[in-house]
Order: sequence, then C-alpha cells, then structure tokens
Amino acid sequence: MDTQTAEKTLDTLMGAWDGEEIIVRRDQPTGATIIIAVHSTRLGLACGGTRMKTYPALEEAVLDAQRLAEGMTFKFAAAGLQRGGGKAVIAIPAGLDAAARDDLLRRYGALIHQLGGIFACGADVGTTAHDMDTIAETGAPYVFGRTSERGGSGDPSPATATGVFSGIKTTCARLFGSDALAGRRVVVQGAGKVGYSLMGLLRDEGAEVTCGDVDAVIVERARTELGVSAMAADAVYDAECDIFSPCALGAILNSETIPRLRCRAVVGAANNQLATSADAELLRERDILYAPDFVVNSGGAIYLIGREVLGWSEQDTLDRVRNGVRDGLTQVYALADEHGMTTSAAAEQVARQRIAGGQG
Ligand code: PHE
Repeated sequence: MDTQTAEKTLDTLMGAWDGEEIIVRRDQPTGATIIIAVHSTRLGLACGGTRMKTYPALEEAVLDAQRLAEGMTFKFAAAGLQRGGGKAVIAIPAGLDAAARDDLLRRYGALIHQLGGIFACGADVGTTAHDMDTIAETGAPYVFGRTSERGGSGDPSPATATGVFSGIKTTCARLFGSDALAGRRVVVQGAGKVGYSLMGLLRDEGAEVTCGDVDAVIVERARTELGVSAMAADAVYDAECDIFSPCALGAILNSETIPRLRCRAVVGAANNQLATSADAELLRERDILYAPDFVVNSGGAIYLIGREVLGWSEQDTLDRVRNGVRDGLTQVYALADEHGMTTSAAAEQVARQRIAGGQG
C-alpha cells in the first residue's frame, strides 16, 4: 500500500486496504489511540510490533498501522515462518508522562488479552523489552520479547541488526565480488535500537561508518562510544557511499530523496522504506540496488519466533538469521535479474507465492 493515498480520510484508508481487520480503541485517560491492524492470517496467527509515537493526525497513524501490518505479512512469509502479519500503533499525545504511559500500556495489554490471540505483540519503534513486561501484566500470553528476567527473549533489535549486516555483506559480494567490509563506506540513517547495534557490527569489520539522526544526543553517543563519524540528519541522502542503510522510519525513499542518493545500494532495517511502488523503479533507473526491507529486516521476527516458539538456542537463532537473510536476498536478486523486474517486485513475488501455498 502506497503512502500517497489520494485523500487520507479514514473512510478511503479503510476502503483502500486489503487487510483483514482493524481494531481501534480510544484510550480516554491519555487521549491516545490504539490501532491494531491484522493484515493476513493466511500463514498463522497475526503477530507484529507495537509502534508508539506521536502522529500529526489519526489518519497518518492508521495508514502507518496498515502499511506496517502488510509488511509483517511479507516479512514472515519471506522468512519462512508460519505467522500472519499484524501491527499495533499507539498514537500518543506529545509529552505523555512515564506513569500515564505505563497505565496506557497495561490497558493496551488488556486489549491484547481480550482479543484472545488474534494479534500477538512485540516491541517496535518507541517500545522496549521493559514495556513488553508491563504489557504482559495484562496481555499474557500474547506478548513476545519480554526481558529475560520475566522469561522472555529480550530485545530483538540486535538480531535485526545481525540480519541487516548479513544483507549488507551479501549485497557487497554481489556488487564488488567480495563481502569484505574493510574500507566500505556505509551511511546509517538512524541510531536507534537497530541502527546503533548495526553500526557496532560494521565498525568491528572495518567499514567506514557515518551516522545521521535527528536526535543530536544519540549521534554524539555513537560518535564517542562507537567511534563512527557523524553528519547532519538530512545530509545522509547526499553522501557518497557504497551502502546507504535506512534504519529509522519509513517512506524515506521517494521522488525527492532518490535523485539525491549517491550510493551503490540501499540495505537497511527500516520498515516500508519505499514511499510508493513506483519508487522501486526510480531506484533501478538510477542503478541503485535495493535490498527489499522485509527481506533484510526479518532478523527480529526470526529471533522472537525462533527463541520463544520454536525453542532454538540463541546461537542457532543468530546463525539462522544470518543465513536466512543471505539466502533470501540472493534468491531475490537472482529472480529480479532473471525476469528483469525490480528487486522489490521479486521479493513480493516470492512472499506471495509462499502465502498462496500456505507455506511460510
Ligand atoms: N518490530 C520488529 C519488526 O518489525 C520486531 C518484531 C517482529 C516484533 C515480530 C514483533 C513481532 O520486525
């Protein structure tokens, strides 16, 4: 689903979506709105993260939930996991205090519990493993990624970063004939949970990492703690580099930013990086190789399901993340070549075939 829906009224948004169900709950005490979007249960019960942030309008929050839930359907299918795609968005008023926020999370948990497994949640932008503990007080047993003290597998972000790192190596191997990262220039947009972890992995392998984030404090932390370079948040699009790695919010690859890019490939963790499907063509025309987001950012999903449902060990799970992203991306690149299609279309084709066959 594109970001550029003709008119973003709730009515048109609901009508334009091909998902199964949207649950909207207004939280009166805080003025927050909880939106749970279940895109597809074809492969299993819906599962996805909980995004908590302030939106300019309710319509934007609904559209985000819809797009993110769809992305989860593709992500699970591409990763070969028997789960359906869903996502929760909690649109909060600016300046919500910590105590009110915790109470809101408990009421969100009660809603999750009440839904009885229609949707199982985990963390996403704006929520943490500690938040999952709070949600699980009322939302059990449908909460993934609680802290290890509470019996969960913890923050999935390092696993997501591990997968993106593997995607970057796979892409370098394809473009440069070697997956070695020494001296490769990587620009990371966003030093959040995944971006930060990814920068550590890249730096350890000798890549030249530059980071841009709207939060100057976190950029400074990355500079001093990780030793990476920093640039202004908006400069990331213009920076000459081998790999541009979007690890912040979605829709950042669009008709305004793509002409500015000076990278050979885009490989990042953010969900829904393309603003519209036409942007995949724009990237191809510019000869920029795009690693489809839901293929390379599946590490967190693989981690939560692997650890908490399938009983895999930590080490085994991380190996599967690395190999899964490598093999999935290799298949997508080959398919795109073979049929002269964009990598994004190739990835969707792979995912749709799995969904149609009922096989994650
Ligand atoms: N929110 C992360 C993602 O989109 C991690 C996550 C995966 C959380 C699956 C819950 C379920 O991949």
